[in-house]
This record gives sequence, C-alpha cells and structure tokens, in this order.
Amino acid sequence: MARISGSELKERIREANDIVDVINGYVPLKRAGANFQALCPFHQEKTPSFSVNPAKQIFYCFGCHKGGDVFTFVQEFEKFSFPEAAKRLAERARIPIEWDESPGARERGQIKEQLYKIHEELAERWHRLLLKDAQGEEGREYLKSRGISDEAVAKFRLGFAANEWSDTLNWAEGKRYSVDLLEKAGLVSRKEETDHRYDRFRRRLIFPITDIQGRVIGFSGRIVDNEEKGGKYVNSPETLIFKKGKVLFGLDKARKAAIEANAMIVCEGQLDLIACHVNGIKNVVAPQGTALTADHARMLKNYVSEVILCFDSDSAGQNAIQRSFNDLLQSGTAVRVVRIPEPHDPDSFIREHGSEAFRELTAKAPGVFDYLLDYLCQEHDRSSDSGKNSIVHGMGLAVNKTGNAVLVDTYAQKTSVRLGVSVEAVRSEFTKAIPRSGEVFEAVAEEVPLVPPMERPGTLEFWLLKLMVSESDSTLAEWLFQHLDLGWVNHDVVKQALGFRLDRLADNRPFDIAELLGEVESPKVASLITEAAADQREIPNKQEQLTDIVLRLRNLHIDQEMQRISYALRDAALEEGQQVLLLQELQELRRTKQQPLRLLADA
Ligand code: CTP
Ligand code: MN
Repeated sequence: MARISGSELKERIREANDIVDVINGYVPLKRAGANFQALCPFHQEKTPSFSVNPAKQIFYCFGCHKGGDVFTFVQEFEKFSFPEAAKRLAERARIPIEWDESPGARERGQIKEQLYKIHEELAERWHRLLLKDAQGEEGREYLKSRGISDEAVAKFRLGFAANEWSDTLNWAEGKRYSVDLLEKAGLVSRKEETDHRYDRFRRRLIFPITDIQGRVIGFSGRIVDNEEKGGKYVNSPETLIFKKGKVLFGLDKARKAAIEANAMIVCEGQLDLIACHVNGIKNVVAPQGTALTADHARMLKNYVSEVILCFDSDSAGQNAIQRSFNDLLQSGTAVRVVRIPEPHDPDSFIREHGSEAFRELTAKAPGVFDYLLDYLCQEHDRSSDSGKNSIVHGMGLAVNKTGNAVLVDTYAQKTSVRLGVSVEAVRSEFTKAIPRSGEVFEAVAEEVPLVPPMERPGTLEFWLLKLMVSESDSTLAEWLFQHLDLGWVNHDVVKQALGFRLDRLADNRPFDIAELLGEVESPKVASLITEAAADQREIPNKQEQLTDIVLRLRNLHIDQEMQRISYALRDAALEEGQQVLLLQELQELRRTKQQPLRLLADA
C-alpha cells in the first residue's frame, strides 16, 4: 500500500479529485466563462467573488483573498490538518492509504475506527427502535408530550434505548464486538468490584452526539419518565473519540448558517437546540450542560466573530454564563447575552411564545458588559458602600480585560449613572481594578509562545509549573504542598511535574530538573517542562504570586463543583433527602470560596 508522506501519492490524490467536483459538493458552483463562481463559503457576501479555475485546478476569493488547491480548500472548509484533508480526499477517490506512524498510534487508530463503527451502528439501531419497535413506544409518547416533530427526530437521528440491562450487550455479542470494546466505547458500566457489566443507556431518549464531520462519537440519554431513578441525563464518558470539553453539540449542522450569519447562538442543551432548528434558527450549538471551555471558544472563533449566549434563566444557567465570559473574551469574540424570562429555557420559551419572539430576544440581546452591569446590580445592594464597591470592581475587571479605552469610558459612564456617583470616581476606581496581584498573569498570557493550543496548560497552571521547576529552594514547594490539592490542577503535565517535586520533598532529596526530564518519555511533555524552566520572566513576589495562583485554582475548582451540583439539583427524579444533602454541599462550597486558603491538614 502507498504511504501518505510521499509526494507521489499527494499527486495521485490530487489527480483523482477534480477541484470543481470537490468544491461543488460543498457549495453549488455556476459556470462563468472559463471559470466557475459561487458565494464565498469563507466570508459573508451577497454577490459571488469566489472563483474556481478548472484549468489550473485552483480556487480564489477576490473578497477575502483565500485561495489554494483542492487540499487547501478541504483544509480550510473542514478545519482539517493536511493529513486529514489528504485522507478525506483519498477516501473520496478510493485510494488506499497506509499511515506512516508508530505501532501505538496505529493501534489507537484501529480502536478509534471500531469505536466510530459501533457508535454509528448503535445510533441507527436506537433510531429504528424509536421509530418502529414496540419497545420504543414510551419514547414515541415522550416525543409527543414534548412536541418534538418527526422532522427533528429524523434530522437529529434521535433514538430510544430499551428498558433492559443487557440489550446493548446482547446486540454487541451478536455482532462479535468484545465487551472490552464496549467498555472502551463507554456503552457499558461495571458493577463495583465485580466483573458484572450492564448497559449504560437504558430506557432513555437518545441524542447521538456528532463531531464536526457528522460522525457519531457519543450519546446523551434523557429519562422519559420523571419517576425513573437515576439522573435526568446520562452521557457517554470520555473515550478515545469523545472529549466533552472539545465537543459542541450540533456544530456540524450549525456551521454553514453560522458562517452566513457570522454569529453563533449557544444554548445549554439538546432540546433547546432542536427547538431552534425546527423553527429555522440553525446557527446554534450546545455545550451540553457545562460552561464553555477555552477549547470551545477557540472552535467558535474559527467560524464566527460573535457569540450569543442563551442559557437557561435559572441560577445554574446564569452561573454557566459567568463562567463562559473569561475564555470567550480572551478568544477575542464579541459576546452578547440573551436574557430568557424566568422560568424558561429556549425550548420552553419558543413553545410558549413562538420563534419570532425568540428571534427578537436574540436580536436585541445586550452586549456582555451591559448584561454584566445588570447582573452585578442585581447581585449587590446598590445602596450600600460595599455593594457599590463590588459593582465597580466587577465592571472594572471586565472592561479592563479588553484594553479598549472607548469601552472603558462608556461603561464608566453607565456604571456611574446606575450608582448615582460621578463618572470621575468610577473611572478612577476602574484604573485600580487592573494591577492587583494575579492580574499580572492575564496581562502576560499572550507572550507565552504558542505550541499547539490544545496541549498547553492554562496560564495559571503554566506559572505554577514555572515556579515549581525553576525554583530550587524548597520553602515555596513546602508551602505549596501544604495548601494545594492536586485535584485542583487540570493539566496532566503540570500534575506530573508537581507530583515529582512532591516525591523529592517527601524523601528529603533535592529537586533536580534533569532528573525529572529523565523520567518523561514524550518529547512534548519534556519541551513544556523545559520551556517553563527556561522562561526568563521575573516573578517579583513569589510567595504572594503562588498564594494567588493556588487560591484561584481552588476557586475555579469550587466553581466547577457548584456547577455540577446545580445541574444535579435540577433533576426531577431527585429524592428529598438527596436534595437536602446537595444543598448543604452547595452552601459549604459557597462558604469555602469566601475564605482564605487553608492548610490541607485542617481541611
Ligand atoms: N445536563 C446533563 N446532565 C444533567 C443535567 C443536564 O448533561 N444531569 C445537560 C444536558 O445536555 C441538558 C442540558 O444540560 O440538555 C440542560 O439541562 P436541563 O435544562 O436540565 O435539561 P432540559 O432537557 O432542558 O430540561 P427540561 O427537559 O426539563 O426542559
Ligand atoms: Mn433546560
């Protein structure tokens, strides 16, 4: 078999894929003399300036100046790397390719292929069950009760998982899929400390989750009977093909409309998104019950320059909005926020007031800073001194992040009007909202050289890593391990390096960076550690900065926990006892967040 790396193969793939045919599969082309024309898929326009030249086998847009060959087109349109685009085009022309890669990567690739296959087949099976099977009756009843149309069922390939413990297991056995594979696919659960496996998805309405290419990579299952025990939603766990923080539900179906509108609406859940779609609003995605991550923000930025957040009106939804701001603003997208009137979510709002009313809400959604000002005025008591201070500080922090003097001035004025104080006073307080310890990390964020973005830890964690691998004195390290719970750290490499330092400390041995590097195998991991150690930037007050980093990591962790509990609390099937426990837990977390760092030993 041929190898992808050879330029000979590249030419074979190119010859087998006529650029006009390929592009015509994405955007309808019209002949114009010797060339073909279309509305450019890469920017918004009313008259076509996108042109394809069949003789030269190239495309070019006179509006946005994107251009290239058939590979470039697929890369740009699909947001693919070159090998991905080449693979896609090779498949299209039925040219077999063998990937030039390590045995480990090849094996992972094969497992991934099997996972895609099993997800695809199961999606189809559950879809048929919902449409025709007697077992799907409950699912069909539920669709009716929620007013979900046949069109939506077909478009999103909704399905129903049977009310049995080993329906999927039996099906897989018949297909000769191993239980091990089912486990890797996250389709079965294991009873604790036993070998007993059972289906993860039982008696649930199934939403297949697809990637940007439309391949099924996971499932989300909703209960259809509110008396049913267990959570309202059961989702696929992280697998080789499903990473929750990097998937946006519906992106494959929203992409085209979003590019056209140059805006993306972000709802919380699948049902909200489906309600939008059937009403002709197609530029919608859903992070499925979490706040947007930095990865999500980057993905959206690829397609649109404006994001319209449209979360539920309850406190979990509003919290998720707050938590989405930072990454969105940092990614440079403009953000507006829809306020859905209580007690609605987009789905229930559209059903009650119609899609026109919803369109109007999104059209009139205020910018993120107006939203924030409203929000802060609601959260704090405007008549008290401390309330005023909190509002000014919160606004100051947010607008300063943009570094835009006009915005700073505009919102200083608006804030002053709300608080009944002079605009000079607000402006002066805004300037103080910049240089607090900790802010320094955001100010330098852009200087950190960019290796592939997905691989990098966040700024806070990078500085933590830098502090720990460049500082041989053990005082700081000792303090750190008395105060930092490793569970607050997200990035594996940072965790690994901290763990290493902790071991040395516990054994009373000096820390040596060469020794740490000797233990790591991956060149990527090594280069991140080296980069952190070699970083020249001075840290003026190390202990203060470290305290600030740890405090922020703790609070981010608390925010995540609070979010998780807020979602759990929404669950209709929750028993009263459980509810009380969750509320207590929430209280406790709120209290902890207000407090300074504690010694872990006391916690
Ligand atoms: N979600 C989840 N796990 C839960 C609760 C929610 O993953 N235990 C996710 C789902 O993606 C869901 C979204 O969060 O679509 C929004 O949650 P919620 O508003 O509770 O779900 P809806 O289906 O909108 O609720 P309802 O059917 O009551 O309108
Ligand atoms: Mn909802």
